[in-house]
Amino acid sequence: MILRKHVTAIFLFPLLFSCGPKEQTLTNIPEVEELLKKMTLEEKIGQLNLLTPGGGVATGAVVSENVEAKIKAGQVGGLFGVAGPERVRKAQQLAVEHSRLKIPLLIGSDVIHGYKTTYPIPLGVSCSWDMDLIEQAAHMAATEATADGVMWNFSPMVDIARDPRWGRIAEGAGEDPFLGAAVARAMVKGYQGDDLSAPNTMLACVKHLALYGASQAGRDYHTVDMSKLKMFNQYLPPYQAAVDEGVASAMTSFNDIDGVPASGNKWLLTDLLRGRWGFNGLVISDYTSVNEMVEHGLGDIQAVSALALKAGLDMDMVGEGFLTTLKKSLEEGKVTEEEITQACRRVLEAKYHSGLLNDPYRYSDAQRPERDILTTENRALARKLATRSFVLLKNHDAILPIKKEVKIALVGPLADSRNNMLGTWAPTGNPDLAVTILEGFKNVAPNAVLNYAKGANISDDAEFAKKVNVFGPRIVIDERSPETMLQEAVNAAKTSDVVVAVIGEATEMSGESASRTDISIPESQKKLIRALVATGKPVALVIMSGRPLTIPEEMDLPVAILQVWHPGVEAGNAIADVVFGHYNPSGKLTATWPRNVGQIPIYHSIKNTGRPNPEGGYEKFKTNYLDVSNSPLLPFGHGLSYTAFDYSDLKLDKSEISTEESVTITVTVENVGDVAGEEVVQLYLSDVVRSITPPKRQLKGFKKILLEKGEKKEVTLTLKPEDLKFYNNQLEFVTEPGEFIVYVGTDSNATLSGSFVLK
Ligand code: NOJ
Repeated sequence: MILRKHVTAIFLFPLLFSCGPKEQTLTNIPEVEELLKKMTLEEKIGQLNLLTPGGGVATGAVVSENVEAKIKAGQVGGLFGVAGPERVRKAQQLAVEHSRLKIPLLIGSDVIHGYKTTYPIPLGVSCSWDMDLIEQAAHMAATEATADGVMWNFSPMVDIARDPRWGRIAEGAGEDPFLGAAVARAMVKGYQGDDLSAPNTMLACVKHLALYGASQAGRDYHTVDMSKLKMFNQYLPPYQAAVDEGVASAMTSFNDIDGVPASGNKWLLTDLLRGRWGFNGLVISDYTSVNEMVEHGLGDIQAVSALALKAGLDMDMVGEGFLTTLKKSLEEGKVTEEEITQACRRVLEAKYHSGLLNDPYRYSDAQRPERDILTTENRALARKLATRSFVLLKNHDAILPIKKEVKIALVGPLADSRNNMLGTWAPTGNPDLAVTILEGFKNVAPNAVLNYAKGANISDDAEFAKKVNVFGPRIVIDERSPETMLQEAVNAAKTSDVVVAVIGEATEMSGESASRTDISIPESQKKLIRALVATGKPVALVIMSGRPLTIPEEMDLPVAILQVWHPGVEAGNAIADVVFGHYNPSGKLTATWPRNVGQIPIYHSIKNTGRPNPEGGYEKFKTNYLDVSNSPLLPFGHGLSYTAFDYSDLKLDKSEISTEESVTITVTVENVGDVAGEEVVQLYLSDVVRSITPPKRQLKGFKKILLEKGEKKEVTLTLKPEDLKFYNNQLEFVTEPGEFIVYVGTDSNATLSGSFVLK
């Protein structure tokens, strides 16, 4: 082992990827500068105002008022919650025909996992580990959204989340910065394409800058308190990756960072984002997050609005603090005219880049929705992506896949529940178009005999159901007694060859403001599962949820478990594809599943302590618990297949490298089972000794491959110089010489290893 003595590389503007950052969009554009010269102070402030007239999901107490009059008065820069070419055209007409300078509006929306063709929730999408498919899906979403008049997307959400109590873990790519960065890049590429002004691309908005996923205790909007080392090494890479990919805009988060809420945090918005990362796009607040700094204790609305502007925030979402106080702040010398002009410049530049300044009606083509939205191809893509997002958690006695010509008891509260298929944050999707599991089974296995029974309510707790049902009925408590429903399901099981139980969380049991302290399957459904297993019939559990759940009891049962998240509009068809073996599941978990909530926060890239307990058993004065082992229930990267893969012959092309060199790793993977299958080959790296305590291992590479039955492939993975870097105590992005160990395998517990030395 070699001890590190010196830092070998320092990058002040670190590049996390070999391809390097894309050019950020142009600034100081002549058309924009000309326009700025004509603008009054009030008109400039008006451009900083982002409103919603309602019609989308109001995620705060406020919905904007008198929107029409404000647009005509030049007091609005953009809208969200407005869609449809005609509605958007009318909104643009108010701006273009009635306001003095005829500046068109930016039209935004939350297109989080598909526009009308809703695909799986982002956490599910990330489990595909398929960046090409993710990019394609994002591009489809952009094509549909722009066809409906929306040219600005409040996505991707790239917040690293290591606390599954937090409901918004559903909206991101899970716990890992390397994978999170790859997903961020794929989504930005998919939304923005190569030309932001093309009629089928949209401005992306990376959110929520920053660290929102680290809300204390998993409670939404809560305090974040984190060391800079942890930020830079673990939480910031996906935001930076989006910036490197040329993302056009960024949204601040609700939480504070080092004591200052993101929307007023100059270090974050100016020093880091614009200075260190070189971002020159538009920065917007989240929904009333400027005003919320009053509640945070930073002063009155005038003070916090001035703070936000000076910090580098350009646009104020819904709160109207900029609109109502900036002029006064200017008169009192609390902000400068240059600061207002600069923010306005960024709004106008975003409009320029999207092509609106040339043609305000670019996205108001009435022919497009019919042609571009919910097409057969789009639905096929949503179905494909859904099948790739499912994770086979266990498969006792190879219960899955099921033969098509058998008698199936299809039971559970989510087996025929159209309202719960799309998942959280699908405000533009239409639940009525979703395919239920019952329908999907009939489509894919028309000869199967299906005995359907609901079996249980999602939850029997009416008070809980009321909170979950804010956007419509998700938990419907049946008029029949739980006992009657259970008996019906047991009877169905007894008269069938096999049982498929579709259980888990309702759509709004995860997502924004949907944190839970108990993330197990609700008791009503646990009773159903126990009763079904007691029949002695083979049971496959299909679990829907927006987060990792604690399911130690279910994992111990002799069942198969297929995790399907919330799969989107093609839910039933996609689930049937996998249950009946048309597609062999290949998804891998992107967030660790804990045994119980006491293990949270839980993630794979933990550090050793000075008193590690590697064997898992309890030992006094070691890092462990009295009541449960340290290991998770299901590790990051876990996911089974209907076949099995054998890993062998790990080789590294070099045993010593310099800081400029890459290492090529090869491994042989063989399909040793009976069917073709896809596998995500994962590479983890351990930096053995360094100047700050290293994680035991970190994901640094992956490749998804297809192997026919009996096929063997040599898979190549490359570690590039920047993959060995980390942020040191001075926040310099460095490598330090010494030994590195590489692990390659099927999940984060991979054991096949090799090592090399960085000189
Ligand atoms: C609040 C959410 O935090 C954010 O993600 C979303 O984009 C805005 N509301 C707008 O709907």
